[in-house]
Amino acid sequence: MQTHESAKSDSTLSSNVRSQFRVLVGVTGSVAALKLPLLVSQLLELPGVDVQVVSTDHATHFFNPEEIPVRVYSDKDEWQLWRCRCDPVLHIDLRRWADLLVIAPLDANTLGKIASGICDNLLTCVVRAWDLTRPLVFCPAMNTAMWQHPITAKQLAVLKEFGYVEVPCIAKKLVCGDEGVW
Ligand SMILES: Cc1cc2nc3c(=O)[nH]c(=O)nc-3n(C[C@H](O)[C@H](O)[C@H](O)COP(=O)(O)O)c2cc1C
Repeated sequence: MQTHESAKSDSTLSSNVRSQFRVLVGVTGSVAALKLPLLVSQLLELPGVDVQVVSTDHATHFFNPEEIPVRVYSDKDEWQLWRCRCDPVLHIDLRRWADLLVIAPLDANTLGKIASGICDNLLTCVVRAWDLTRPLVFCPAMNTAMWQHPITAKQLAVLKEFGYVEVPCIAKKLVCGDEGVW
């Protein structure tokens, strides 16, 4: 099994070896992204699990990529990797690589984008190209005021229609001081 460090230095995108179950973690700009290091380390404790991360640019405000022991991709990687027709298209390689996509946390903005098919960054491109025969799990996290807006329930219903699986929120005190759902 690869060590976490070697997993970080080797993107594993081109690997043909399928001995591991590959989890792609998508992370968005909710304060709950503070938990990314914990989520990744707990996934890596599962035997036979390989992990990579796709982060939105706003999510990077909430964690230090140096503290994540696996490869963390962001929008700039998509464009830096592609120079000519022979180069890989990262969002397609990642959707091909992953056996499971876990979007945790899924903020209100990216929830809305996914529900309406918008794909304007690396994560939403992976989701837009997602193979619906593979599982996609999402963990909404937002302030109560956002959560209770009627658009939220409509957008969650669209994602569930696609077969995506919601991990329900729990209520707790948010950084803004409100009670909210994570
Ligand atoms: C400190 C802070 C905390 C935030 N927490 C949340 C949150 O928990 N849930 C949410 O839906 N948006 C939250 N936002 C707003 C999102 O970051 C914002 O909508 C952003 O555009 C999301 O971009 P992304 O979906 O591309 O990551 C927060 C913003 C700030 C500044």
